[in-house]
Amino acid sequence: MNFDGLRVAVTGAARDTGRLLAEAFADRGAYVCLSARNLAVAEQAASVINQRGPGRADAFRCDLAEPDSVRAFAAAVADRTERIDVLINNGAVYIEGDDLTHAPDDKIENVMAVGGTGTLLLTKHLLPLLRASARPDIVNMISACGETGHRRSGAHPAFYAAKHAHAGLAEILSHRLRPEGIRVISLFPPDFVQDGPRQASGDLTARSVVDCVLFAIGQPRDCFIREFHFEQVRPSRG
Ligand SMILES: NC(=O)c1ccc[n+]([C@@H]2O[C@H](COP(=O)([O-])OP(=O)(O)OC[C@H]3O[C@@H](n4cnc5c(N)ncnc54)[C@H](OP(=O)(O)O)[C@@H]3O)[C@@H](O)[C@H]2O)c1
Repeated sequence: MNFDGLRVAVTGAARDTGRLLAEAFADRGAYVCLSARNLAVAEQAASVINQRGPGRADAFRCDLAEPDSVRAFAAAVADRTERIDVLINNGAVYIEGDDLTHAPDDKIENVMAVGGTGTLLLTKHLLPLLRASARPDIVNMISACGETGHRRSGAHPAFYAAKHAHAGLAEILSHRLRPEGIRVISLFPPDFVQDGPRQASGDLTARSVVDCVLFAIGQPRDCFIREFHFEQVRPSRG
């Protein structure tokens, strides 16, 4: 797949899946606006991409928990490019725990601020740049925890709530932006591993999740893939 000239913005892109996504697009020729909470780590990840090519990356600070940082990121991207073709809403905070009372309030606020408000504000502030693209896509890295009726994860209720907020945003935007030709592509993976054998008996890997994104973005413009859902490995009976 060749994404030469594609302009992509990614949140939480200095490590793990966000970084894999940034690298996968740059490996195929794209220009990446690579953002992270910490500018220094974003710069490091961008520099690896720029040394390798063929695509290139600029590093930006974007703390999704801080609305001012989100707006500053969108403004800085607008200073560099007149359009964005793909926005990837990847950054999120995970917390574990069955019991609602077992996480401090400030942690819960942070989970909701990043996955809920921050993601929504960034999408809002980058929408003008997406509207300036001839092939605009918004990719949402959600989670099976954002599916209605999903109860299998040991994630804290705040994570479920944040992912449902993200899923709700994606659902209505997909419908409302369809007439403009803006595709809203959402992924609802179960727990996945960054690395591992890509076999039926193993866990889903980040590489396979990234390949789903590349596939959806690579489709012709009549093809609006709205959601990816995944079957989990069934726990073996002892
Ligand atoms: N891994 C899984 O099992 C799984 C399953 C389903 C869905 N997902 C979703 O898929 C996406 C990628 O997963 P992952 O495993 O790569 O997640 P991860 O390892 O937990 O990484 C999360 C990313 O979000 C960033 N982030 C955290 N707080 C932020 C903030 N305030 N502002 C901006 N960025 C922030 C992190 O940056 P820092 O380096 O600054 O912390 C990191 O880059 C996430 O949305 C995740 O919820 C993951």
